[in-house]
Amino acid sequence: MTVIPFSQALRERTRGGHAESEGASFMDDLMTGTGSKSDYVSLVVQHYFIYEALEAASARFAVDPVAAAFIAPALIRLPALEADLAFLLGDGWRDRIAPLPTTVAYVARIDEVAAEGWAGGFVAHHYTRYLGDLSGGQIIRTLMQRQFGFETNGVGFYLFDQIAKPREFKDRYREQLDTVAWSEAERERVIDEVMLAYRFNTELFSDLAHAKDAGAAIA
Ligand code: HEM
Repeated sequence: MTVIPFSQALRERTRGGHAESEGASFMDDLMTGTGSKSDYVSLVVQHYFIYEALEAASARFAVDPVAAAFIAPALIRLPALEADLAFLLGDGWRDRIAPLPTTVAYVARIDEVAAEGWAGGFVAHHYTRYLGDLSGGQIIRTLMQRQFGFETNGVGFYLFDQIAKPREFKDRYREQLDTVAWSEAERERVIDEVMLAYRFNTELFSDLAHAKDAGAAIA
């Protein structure tokens, strides 16, 4: 019997969730040049709230026997998001941003997983965001740089200056996923949580599309 490594099962079983996030019209518009710079800024704003929660959770799980191996200082994004927002919105950026409803729910779920101390759930959220940022995020960065003339300011979130080779980093991350002695039941729970994380991301794109239709750009 061939045993499928967990990292592979996780990727394959969540492929549909990924396709829905990737294919959301808000994202598609941004990627194909139909989206505006203000759409991009709205996305950065929502990332700020999500990473605030994710990185507070990382601090909580820093000594967790399972989760700690996934946490790396090189991944921390919040300072880059703060710098991007200062560049994109100016000094008063903190007073001009608010989370959309899906972001509020997404953050509440990350907080809940952290409060429970559920390492597998935390890894699910950690994986969905950071492996995505190191994959599709790099394509997004290149397109945003091209479309809006950014060099590094404004896209710092996507620049992992302490990760020289994202591919190798992701391979090690997947090896770590395969090293954890999760039970079959726990693996299923982790896969479900990654699907939930994808749903939050897809619904966030839908919130962002609605906000834009309503003309509710950042003040
Ligand atoms: C325009 C949007 C997107 C594009 C073009 C894109 C593209 C890609 C590509 C090409 C890969 C494969 C990279 C590799 O095998 O090394 C990938 C992987 C991944 N993406 Fe996306 N992506 C997008 C949006 C998203 C979103 C919104 C999320 C979730 C927040 C996400 C999460 C992931 C994850 C977790 C992986 C790693 C899968 C694995 O290998 O286990 N992506 N993406």
